[in-house]
Amino acid sequence: MKGIVIYDTSYGNTRKIAEAIADALKESGIHVDPTYVKNVKKLNAEDYDFLIIGSPTRFATMSLAMRGFLSRLKAEEWLNKPFAAFDTEGSANIEKNEGSAAEKIAQKLCEKQMNQLLPVLKAVVLDWKGPLQNGEIERAKEYARKFMAQLKR
Ligand SMILES: Cc1cc2nc3c(=O)[nH]c(=O)nc-3n(C[C@H](O)[C@H](O)[C@H](O)COP(=O)(O)O)c2cc1C
Repeated sequence: MKGIVIYDTSYGNTRKIAEAIADALKESGIHVDPTYVKNVKKLNAEDYDFLIIGSPTRFATMSLAMRGFLSRLKAEEWLNKPFAAFDTEGSANIEKNEGSAAEKIAQKLCEKQMNQLLPVLKAVVLDWKGPLQNGEIERAKEYARKFMAQLKR
């Protein structure tokens, strides 16, 4: 089983969530490197069993770099592969249910007929540059454990 966690970040908060997810997956015996979206060259679908994708929420959607990356994923190569999506955003954004990066990512990957294993994870930042709200690292780890449980089903 091999997967990859791909994230974008400006201030490091989304990277911390990506690392927490990767750490929890490692504890379940799956090695994944959290990879900054701008460092992804060509992603060969045959090499991966699942994708976990995260972006900061910007103007109620995902970052431009993440949008570019997703547009290059070929639907026919990734068809039916499991995925999960996460983001970082302000708590007011979540309460008002304004657009979230993770939801937009999930929508794009569902359009490509990928298989969403879990509802998205929205991690809360206290301000634009962070920090993350207390407990969000542990919540991200728990999310990864749930993802693994779904994957093993
Ligand atoms: C240009 C810009 C637009 C943003 N728009 C939103 C937004 O629409 N909703 C929201 O909750 N946060 C918004 N934020 C705050 C980001 O969500 C926050 O900076 C991000 O989660 C921090 O993650 P990072 O450290 O990984 O970059 C915005 C931040 C920037 C810089």
